[in-house]
Amino acid sequence: ESSKAQQLIALHEKASEVYHHMLVHTTAGQEALDYLLKRGLTEELIEEFQIGFAPNQRAFLERIFQNESLDAKYFAESGLFVERDDGLADRFYQRIMFPIRNFQGKTIGFSGRWLQTEAFPGENQPKYLNSPETSLFNKREVLFNFDKARSTIRKEGSVFLFEGFMDVLAAWQSGIQNGIASMGTSLTNQQIAAIERVSKELILCYDGDNAGIEATNRGIELLQEHSHLNLTIVSVPERLDPDEYVRKYGSEAFYELAYHGRETVFSFKMNYRKQHRNLANEKEQLEYVQELLQDLLQVDSLLEQDRYLTQLSTEFQISRETLQQQLRQFKQARRN
Ligand code: GTP
Ligand code: MN
Ligand code: MN
Ligand code: MN
Ligand code: MN
Repeated sequence: ESSKAQQLIALHEKASEVYHHMLVHTTAGQEALDYLLKRGLTEELIEEFQIGFAPNQRAFLERIFQNESLDAKYFAESGLFVERDDGLADRFYQRIMFPIRNFQGKTIGFSGRWLQTEAFPGENQPKYLNSPETSLFNKREVLFNFDKARSTIRKEGSVFLFEGFMDVLAAWQSGIQNGIASMGTSLTNQQIAAIERVSKELILCYDGDNAGIEATNRGIELLQEHSHLNLTIVSVPERLDPDEYVRKYGSEAFYELAYHGRETVFSFKMNYRKQHRNLANEKEQLEYVQELLQDLLQVDSLLEQDRYLTQLSTEFQISRETLQQQLRQFKQARRN
């Protein structure tokens, strides 16, 4: 079994090397390389993360594997190919390849981003294509960049969770090397457990668009329910994602946002619930306040609670005493 794991890893390490070579050293990879450099990635970063390119051929990797006389026993199981009537075909083509490594730093899968060109618009292609589940690659377990980020996570005592690989890379270039991402899904309990083993604090920094804001709200609920992590939120303005923010305002501005633009969970909730309510309507105003008092139950710090009670009291002209009483009632109700 372990030799099978070793062989599957060997196939992935080889594939990673080949894709990386294609990107950096061949004309077939030129368009992809130009695209990445234009997006602001540096050659050092491309090297560091072994980013690659799978050219638009269906028998590219397979031929290389055969020429290298690799044992074909595990080709089908590796997830690097799809099975067809006439044999195996490359799963990834015309894609920028992000190697996905396990916690030990071994490549166990890929995520490939479609490279849109005039010749290959790829209308029906998903933007990202991941390796399928294999005996090694389980996307509910893996966290992109966890292996590289871990030492910084420990040192800083905190971890940044981003939505996308490109965001992790943009952050890395901005000097934030404790960033990770899930494989485009919400966090699982296994992933949360892995994070909690190395950090007490998690900073959620998802995309600033609607999807990202909804994902942040879900993420907060999930993490509050299943972890003891201290949570803070970085809301990226103008509906940008972190990568776009870095391109628009620069690395230093992003670093500033990430460290000084953090808000508390409650402050996020205030804004989030506002967007879902028409506060010109009196009934909705009261519902809004009630929801926030429920949220306030999750706030452990008494100082924080006190400040937000004052804020709500001032904003909605409800006495602090009444708010406090309501809060106590909610607390009681939750206990029962
Ligand atoms: P860029 O467009 O290259 O900047 O990527 P992005 O990271 O901004 O993509 P987006 O915000 O659309 O998605 C965030 C993450 O969700 C990605 O990094 C992927 O992990 C995942 N994702 C996005 N699109 C797809 C898709 O079509 N299929 C799958 N499986 N995952 C996706
Ligand atoms: Mn290289
Ligand atoms: Mn998005
Ligand atoms: Mn995005
Ligand atoms: Mn993006």
